[in-house]
Parts: sequence; structure tokens; C-alpha cells
Amino acid sequence: MSGGFSQQDANGRLRHLITLDGVPRALIEELLDRAQSHVTPAGALPPRGDDLAGWTVANLFAEPSTRTRASFELAAVRLGADTINLDVMLSSRAKGESIIDTIYTLQEMQVNVFVIRDAEPGIHEYVARHVGPGVSVISGGEAHLSHPTQGLLDALTIRQCKGGFDGLVVTLVGDIRRSRVARSAHRALSTLGVAEIRIVAPPVMMPEPAEFAGARRFGSLDEGIAGADVVMMLRIQQERATGAGATDLVAYHQDYGLTPARIERAAPEAIVMHPGPMNRGVEITSDVADGPRSMIRRQVANGVAVRMAVLAHVAAARGRAP
Ligand code: NCD
Repeated sequence: MSGGFSQQDANGRLRHLITLDGVPRALIEELLDRAQSHVTPAGALPPRGDDLAGWTVANLFAEPSTRTRASFELAAVRLGADTINLDVMLSSRAKGESIIDTIYTLQEMQVNVFVIRDAEPGIHEYVARHVGPGVSVISGGEAHLSHPTQGLLDALTIRQCKGGFDGLVVTLVGDIRRSRVARSAHRALSTLGVAEIRIVAPPVMMPEPAEFAGARRFGSLDEGIAGADVVMMLRIQQERATGAGATDLVAYHQDYGLTPARIERAAPEAIVMHPGPMNRGVEITSDVADGPRSMIRRQVANGVAVRMAVLAHVAAARGRAP
């Protein structure tokens, strides 16, 4: 966050959620607890509430998204909100004045929450600085920088499977350099006290040395995965690397693909995660993605619960019934 801007209000509640940087452990735990209360057993009807009754949530997604967008929409609807979904280019790359005019226009239609996904760093904060006093901005993904609700749902999934964070070894594998998922997972898990976070990537996908403070870095998947309790695979972002920078997918799979043989090097009860969408046969084989250790579908279910929790928290902070 840049100078003079805080996503928290004077009481420490989130008015906006743009990043997990600086969000205290107690608040993250409160959001996880609230999300857990929105998790229902398989086969049961989804939970509903009226925390957002009368509110309108606008999903403004300038990048493709299936699960994040659908889960924000379902979370809002299940809490009683009206929703609109717009494919808009907010970024200044699109057209000069359009960002703030788009926001003002929707504000006049009484939108209370903007959920924004955009490839331009800083857009979320820029919008948050310009919205009216009763309006919140929640990130659905910001460039390569931040994906806070993904970080929360990953933390919730680990907590459900492992009972907590103490003493865990968590290994993140893949295109860490360009991954907002990895950055938000690292932030959430560091704050929650995970003992050891490892990042595994080929040199071109390693982040700058100043990033991922405290994480152990590995060039070899076999070494980085050894004894891990949680293995989080990331998508090869083929759309962001073309021409000379394109990845040789066969070679990548050879060196960094998660296979049934490789996962055996992890801890006996290790779980496998992936934010989706997956490139099956590249970063992960179908045997592993659909196998007994895979929590990938549970992550999707938890995504709705986490987004309900964040929306309800923001609404409560604005004076709605908790
Ligand atoms: C990720 C994203 O878009 O940041 N997906 C997601 O939100 N579930 C990861 C990706 O695109 O690889």
C-alpha cells in the first residue's frame, strides 16, 4: 500500500481487501473461522445468510476467470446481495478517463462492493482511493502481485487438513516469479506461522532475491519436495510467455511435473494443492490431480466459503449486522 492509504478502518476492520500484506494474524484467523462456518458437508445445501441483503456487488474482471469470478458471485448471492458481472478494462492501458467514470457510474447505481481483477499493478488501490465512503474494493487478483482471497482459501484448506500451521513444511512449485497465488500464499502462511516455506522453480521462474523473505529456494523438485507436508503446484502461464520465452512443456514436465513417483518423496500424509486452472500432464499428472492426496476440489469449495467470509466481514465493518 502506498503512503496515506490503509485498507483497514480505525477499528482495524477491513474496509477493502487488496492485499494480505500487513493484515494481522488475528484478523486472518477470524476470517478463516468465519469461512469455516460457511463450509457445509458434501451433499448438503449451501449455507445462506442475509449479511448482504440490499447490497449490490459488482464483479469487474479484466482477465479471464472461472472459479474466482463464479465463487465471488455465488458468495454474494448466498448472502442476499444483488450482483452484476462486467468484462471491463479498467486499466489505463484501455482508455484514459474510463476507470473512474466506470466506478462513478456504477456507484450511482448503488453498487456497494467492487470485486476487481486486473493485470495492472496498483489499479485496486487507485479505485479504493476514489470510491465513496460507503463503498468497498475487494481484489480478485492483481497482476502478478496479489490474490488475497486465494491466499485465504489455501490457508483454510491447509488448516482443515493439517489441523493448524505449526511445524509444517509447505512447498510451492512452478512459475513463482509471475504468480500472485504464490505471493499471497507466502504472505498468509508466513503470518500464520508456517515453519518452513520452500519455493521450487527453474531459474527463469524464480522471483527476485528480495521477494519471498524467509523461503528456502530449490532448483530441484525432488529436493524441494522431500518431506513436505503440503505441495502446492502452480500453473504454467503459457499466455504470459511466448516466443523465445516460451516454456518447453515436455522438458518442464520432466523436471518439475508432479507425478505419482515424485509425490512419494513428500511426507507420508502430504496433500497436493493447485489453484486451477490446471495444465494436466504439464505441471501435474491426472493421477495426482485426481488422486487421494489431492485437495484441489476442496480448494474450490473453500473459495466460496472464504469469499462469503470476506464479504460478510466487510459488510459487518460497515455497520451491518455481523
Ligand atoms: C489463478 C489466478 O488467476 O490468479 N487462478 C485462480 O484464481 N484460481 C492462477 C492462475 O491463473 O494460474
